[in-house]
Amino acid sequence: MPVITNIADLKRIHERRTPRMFYDYCESGSWTEQTFRENTTDFEKIRLRQKVAVDMSGRTTESTMIGQKVAMPVALAPVGLTGMQCADGEIKAAKAAEAFGVPFTLSTMSINSIEDVAEATTKPFWFQLYVMKDTDFTARLIERARAAGCSALVITLDLQLLGQRHKDLKNGLSAPPKMTPKTIANLATKWAWGLEMLGAKRRHFGNIVGHVQGVSDMSQLGAWTAEQFDPTLDWGKIAKLMEQWGGKVILKGVLDPEDAKMAASLGAEAITVSNHGGRQLDGALSSIRMLPSILDAVGNDVEVHLDSGIRSGQDVLKALAMGAHATMIGRAFVHGLGAMGQQGVATALEVIRKELDMTMALCGETDVKRLSRDHLLIPEDFEGRWQI
Ligand code: GLV
Repeated sequence: MPVITNIADLKRIHERRTPRMFYDYCESGSWTEQTFRENTTDFEKIRLRQKVAVDMSGRTTESTMIGQKVAMPVALAPVGLTGMQCADGEIKAAKAAEAFGVPFTLSTMSINSIEDVAEATTKPFWFQLYVMKDTDFTARLIERARAAGCSALVITLDLQLLGQRHKDLKNGLSAPPKMTPKTIANLATKWAWGLEMLGAKRRHFGNIVGHVQGVSDMSQLGAWTAEQFDPTLDWGKIAKLMEQWGGKVILKGVLDPEDAKMAASLGAEAITVSNHGGRQLDGALSSIRMLPSILDAVGNDVEVHLDSGIRSGQDVLKALAMGAHATMIGRAFVHGLGAMGQQGVATALEVIRKELDMTMALCGETDVKRLSRDHLLIPEDFEGRWQI
């Protein structure tokens, strides 16, 4: 068993173990990947303020997200095709999250279905909704999430069309993989993944296959989104969906202060400041850089979560100290899953908690809920000065 001390260790094993097309799907941004890169490098620009001679005993990372108690304010973000990183990936990730005490979010574009995850877990999870042209299908997804006892609907706002990720096109990304000579050659080196996958509950998009008709190619994310996602989604439609759901809603993918105000005014429980991990609008600023102006815009009107770029507990701490109420991780848990399944997700969460806890202690703080900008050294020009 290798000694895992950080997320980068899991990422290396994930890359070795998982077919190229799925590893690349995880580790890509759109177009030039500028936003994808800056999501992480901008975190590095924020530095920490060391404090000494402070009683660091009795520390806690516990907090809440949308009123739910969490072991640390780090939810698992919705990630498409998670069940292709590892057999039954969504079930395994959901179980690891449940055992750890953080929320798991199931993507519409998951391999395991809403019902699969509900059956395998005991606590409510969150369901992420992509809004489809087929309003009946969208309504059925909402009903299925309700029947499964999901405690929040996470409506993604920044993906009405799929950002172009060059590697996915070149690799012919699909679920299950199409057997081209290139893919066969790659799969031949991934026998452990393949053996497990033979026993997987599903190898298709589980929320979709068997639930809709008239789709030309069910296996390709790109084709599916282009054909099915509703390009007319606007604030009016979002308000209607929120009403249809009637429960807690998180509006995810907000990167602009005016949009944040609008999302808050609709009565969302939380917004997620996110650029979809740099996978959508390349050239957008990083989430962490946009966070201050969004916090200024919405004040205490809505809980503000942040994702995109978090790869460590130190990044979590920086996001919280900058003012986010909580965070989400995508790639950081997928690396764990691709490396060693459920145990890998548990390890990723433990790595992050330990980094968060130790960093907090060395910054002279004992409660994650009290983190503030006083714990940070933020470059004066961090947010940038832009002509309006
Ligand atoms: C889907 O959510 C993706 O980013 O590929």
